[in-house]
Amino acid sequence: MEYQKIEFGDVKIEGKDRYPEYRLIFPEPPKNKTMLDVGCNIGYYCFQAHTEGAKKCIGIDTHSAFIDTANDIKEKLEFENIEFKAEGVGCDKGIGVCTYKGEKVDIVIALYVFHHFSNIKDAAFAIKQCYLLANELVVFGILDWPYSEAATAGILVNPKGNKKLAFTMPFFEELFPNDDIEIFPSAIVKDRSIVKIWKRRHNA
Ligand SMILES: C[S@@+](CC[C@H](N)C(=O)[O-])C[C@H]1O[C@@H](n2cnc3c(N)ncnc32)[C@H](O)[C@@H]1O
Repeated sequence: MEYQKIEFGDVKIEGKDRYPEYRLIFPEPPKNKTMLDVGCNIGYYCFQAHTEGAKKCIGIDTHSAFIDTANDIKEKLEFENIEFKAEGVGCDKGIGVCTYKGEKVDIVIALYVFHHFSNIKDAAFAIKQCYLLANELVVFGILDWPYSEAATAGILVNPKGNKKLAFTMPFFEELFPNDDIEIFPSAIVKDRSIVKIWKRRHNA
């Protein structure tokens, strides 16, 4: 069972259906847009955007086995204008990530990647890197900070001692004070949200 369900043409892979989340991110098809998916896993968002007329999609993921699977699917589907690369953003030492130096695109999405980072400083560095790669829109999937105390981001520890980073809207407002920022509850997972940062005003 994969993290993402894939059902395009003859390719069928069992996993969790990400379409409701995709539609939350793209209420309108990303027709003629270029997109970078950071932490693309086996490529679902790139394949879906391609079928909806995206001009070019680049998917990067630090886990090369996911990229191999994404490339196999791409070949079977004979989809053009999609590239998958075993690369990553940020400098998270815990998982040995290299910093991605790619071309700028219209839209960058980075869904549920940063709660795996070991500290807020490294996550903020990678989040800013994603932001700088986008011309129009950056979309982050985040784990919500569940407490009401004043905090913009923090570390959650579960009973087994596993740590995850959680974020809030003010965290993004502090990082990107000149942009229009929206937040929506995830369409598929509770305690998670989708943050959209529109760079239109910033670029105007
Ligand atoms: C929880 S999965 C989310 C997958 C996909 N974004 C989605 O929402 O369906 C996180 C993914 O991010 C990848 N990843 C972790 N750190 C990364 C980094 N620094 N840069 C790029 N990918 C990363 C992991 O290998 C994994 O595939």
